[in-house]
Amino acid sequence: MNHDQLIQNTISFVKKALEHAEGGHDWFHIERVYNTSKFIAEHENTNTLVVELSALLHDIADPKFHDGDESVGPKLAKTFLESQQVDIATINHVVNIIQHMSFKNSLENNGAVFTSTELEVVQDADRLDAIGAIGIARAFNYGGFKNRALHDPKIAPNLQMTKEEYKASKAPTINHFYEKLLLLKDRMNTETGRKLALQRHQFMETFLDQFFGEWEGTQ
Ligand code: ADP
Ligand code: NI
Repeated sequence: MNHDQLIQNTISFVKKALEHAEGGHDWFHIERVYNTSKFIAEHENTNTLVVELSALLHDIADPKFHDGDESVGPKLAKTFLESQQVDIATINHVVNIIQHMSFKNSLENNGAVFTSTELEVVQDADRLDAIGAIGIARAFNYGGFKNRALHDPKIAPNLQMTKEEYKASKAPTINHFYEKLLLLKDRMNTETGRKLALQRHQFMETFLDQFFGEWEGTQ
């Protein structure tokens, strides 16, 4: 099968799979990560097909919606790629990337055994979608979905909480900036990713200044 046909088939497959996904994880998230991945890859030496397929398939089954099962996404991707007669080396690489992307935003993922430039590119693109204007929108969308307060001056950000404690706490959305989003710029893998992250980071800092000014009634 030629490259364009394979990409088209993959897009159709992903759109269908994400039909009922919530706003932060819908097809448009995938489309943004796909476009940003291609943009970053222009400055890196990568296998383009692997980058494209990994970006498109990276959130095919979010463990949050599959009882925490992290094996569903990689399995679905593998079966799909086999049905498209993709060569085994490409399939293995893409599945490896998806497996390691499933820990993508966890800050404790330093012991990962697998790495590749293609993984680094798609991971950067996924992290970039969590910061800047889009990142702010996604965070408040998620907070609304979870019925979290925007901000609560009595609940300070806590960088030591485990994921489980975090889920159980009713942490307001603004805390998520301090616990995760503002830390992402220092976790970028590529030069291009770092540059984009810096600009988006500054935008979040400006947003937070304005937010607290308005909260206090001084701005
Ligand atoms: P990914 O797209 O990498 O799978 P996540 O599933 O961790 O990322 O999060 C999806 C979106 O929801 C991101 O924009 C993230 O910042 C946001 N989000 C996740 N957890 C929280 C939270 N506790 N409060 C606010 N936003 C959150
Ligand atoms: Ni994602």
